Amino acid sequence: MDSIHITTPHRSYPIHFGALAPKLQFKGKVLVVSNSRVGGLYLDFLLPKISAPEICICIIEDGEHYKTFESVQRILETAFLHRLDRKSTMIALGGGVVGDIVGFAAGIFMRGIDFVQIPTTLLAQVDASIGGKTGINNVFGKNLIGLFHQPASVHIDPFFLHTLPAREFAAGVAEIIKMAVTFDASFFEWLWEHHLSLETQDSLLTALRGAISIKQRVVCQDEKEQGLRAALNYGHTFGHVIEKESGYGHYLHGEAVSMGIVMVNALACKHGCLTTSEAERICTLLQSYNLPTHYKILNKQQFYHSLFLDKKTANNKIKFILPNSIGNVLFYDKFTYEEIMNVLEQFCDS
Ligand code: NAD
Ligand code: GLY
Repeated sequence: MDSIHITTPHRSYPIHFGALAPKLQFKGKVLVVSNSRVGGLYLDFLLPKISAPEICICIIEDGEHYKTFESVQRILETAFLHRLDRKSTMIALGGGVVGDIVGFAAGIFMRGIDFVQIPTTLLAQVDASIGGKTGINNVFGKNLIGLFHQPASVHIDPFFLHTLPAREFAAGVAEIIKMAVTFDASFFEWLWEHHLSLETQDSLLTALRGAISIKQRVVCQDEKEQGLRAALNYGHTFGHVIEKESGYGHYLHGEAVSMGIVMVNALACKHGCLTTSEAERICTLLQSYNLPTHYKILNKQQFYHSLFLDKKTANNKIKFILPNSIGNVLFYDKFTYEEIMNVLEQFCDS
């Protein structure tokens, strides 16, 4: 097993890559948090590997719909009931939803204790578990409540992916494509040549490494998203609106990002930083994983207004992340109302 390190001003931690170590050692108490689905599949596998003075478990409901204060409350109550203290550790066993919630709970419990990420979806392995963004949703939008709290370690074991439904796998690929388009043209070409699946383990491992290395580079340079890191939100400005409008859980996060990528690419083409043929290639690559690439907007005025809830909005200006050809990005916040509405219009047809 090898590892790469994330180093931020606040913390340096390893991302271990490969089969989970036979023993995970902790000096303090451990609270393992999972959801009803992943817990059933993998708790028996994980628990014997943990060595700690006391291990307790909290199971939360499965799904984006439960990325709420109630789930955080359940974790905190379990932590208090079992008398966790500031030397204790929470372990997140699950996809991005569990990881984001547990990271948040660990970040606010007694003003912050350690947590460990053991991501079990492709999306969480290449993106969500790395970089310390934690949080929950509310009626105003996704991930609007949260904090940066870096994990103490991340363990990427592709073994977990074998039980992942195909649709979830594809949603993870959308985030890998996102990283390639924004940061690495040669990685994009490689993805164009190689179809990822559980049956092509070598390619999958190469893609995991490629995406994780990009994320690591970005987080090390810009932990708190003062600049560069915002590029990882390519496709998300539109994607988050799609998730909210359609009801959390209707589309998977990666599916919403896939449609969001196609929408923002239309803006990029108007702006002249992406050619139509580049936009078509990105769309074709997404479609090759059966990812949705067209969202039908029912009310473009409403959609437009929802865009402003994006966390990158400042002074009432939406900052769009546009691919600058494939492999680079630029930030642009000067689109006029008419320019944005023109692009939204393209998505009003069935
Ligand atoms: P998820 O956590 O909901 O997992 C998807 C589904 O797969 C769930 O039903 C889950 O129970 C199930 N599952 C998980 N692992 C499994 C396995 N090995 N076998 C079978 N089923 C399994 O969704 P996700 O796509 O992993 O994550 C999406 C979330 O991540 C969103 O809330 C998004 O906002 C967040 N996210 C966060 C960051 C970040 O930087 N913090 C980055 C990207 C996405
Ligand atoms: N997934 C976006 C980020 O971590 O910044």
